[in-house]
Amino acid sequence: MVANNNIFQKNNIVENLGAGSYGFVVGLDNDHALKVYVGSFDPTTRGTDPGAKSDVERYGAFYEKAFGGTASVSELHVFREGKIKTPFGRDWFYAEMPKIVPYSEHMRQVHAPGAEDVSDEEVKKLVATGKLAPEDVEDFRKYKASAASRGVSKTGLVRQGRSLKEVTDRVNFEILFLKELAYLANLVDDRGAQAIAEFDPEEAYAQQHGRAFPEDHKDEIKLDSDFGAAIDTKSRGGKRAQLAEFAELLEQGNLDVIFSQEISLLDKTYAKNLFNQLKGLLKTKTLNDIRDIRGANIGFYKGREKVPIIFDY
Ligand SMILES: Nc1ncnc2c1ncn2[C@@H]1O[C@H](COP(=O)(O)OP(=O)(O)O)[C@@H](O)[C@H]1O
Ligand SMILES: [Mg+2]
Repeated sequence: MVANNNIFQKNNIVENLGAGSYGFVVGLDNDHALKVYVGSFDPTTRGTDPGAKSDVERYGAFYEKAFGGTASVSELHVFREGKIKTPFGRDWFYAEMPKIVPYSEHMRQVHAPGAEDVSDEEVKKLVATGKLAPEDVEDFRKYKASAASRGVSKTGLVRQGRSLKEVTDRVNFEILFLKELAYLANLVDDRGAQAIAEFDPEEAYAQQHGRAFPEDHKDEIKLDSDFGAAIDTKSRGGKRAQLAEFAELLEQGNLDVIFSQEISLLDKTYAKNLFNQLKGLLKTKTLNDIRDIRGANIGFYKGREKVPIIFDY
């Protein structure tokens, strides 16, 4: 019954592209990606929403935009979306979109080449073509696993570069940093760098916890409660807080100085474009709303490597 759905009749599935918490993504013979999902995260109950309301709405909006001609190049292009009838008493959902290169995968290939995890398929192929003896499979897997975690090169020498985990963690940190910087940039637009530099998070904390505060602090800035994981809000050892320093640089439009200090793995142009997209999103969303924006959920279309596509949040 599932296979009788129109979406599976039109095109053949040619590859597996990935899996997430609520579904899987396959490649079709028209070079598109088809995401099939059974629900989505429900932020209010923190459980599963079997109606997948948030994702259905998001893909629906992208579909409308794509065909209404109002989508920007950086928005996810949804060709088709809808429901899949199943014999299980509830519907599944699908969204057809262009193939995307996930950014974390791209970064691992650039910064930790040769340390990719080895798949069952790859091992089978190596054995079938006589490149790997069946009795060596176990050693080969162990070797690849250690290369992946410790940064050992194919030749067995310790590689100068990073391990897979180091790359993934650093990429996610830089994306987190960009989110906080985008949040701060919106705050600078609203309040000016001066007000932010004068803002004292400890005083704000005291206020929130009911201690008396002077009249002139009525207009105190309220930071998003998730802010501060990547940008330091306190001054340390006589040095100004990063919050104040970056606020000033943002006001001067000096993104390059900030990036030269904080962005070491991400491509600078990609990072700048992502920063602008995040700034737009944070006009209506909180940092918690966009917590899923990380290396595995953003990417780019092949041949358009500088344009970030956020495909899951
Ligand atoms: N359009 C696409 N092209 C190629 N791979 C994709 C595409 N969409 C998703 N993927 C892969 O599938 C994984 C899961 O998809 P995602 O939309 O993030 O679902 P989930 O909400 O379950 O995390 C992604 O991390 C990515 O590796
Ligand atoms: Mg995902």
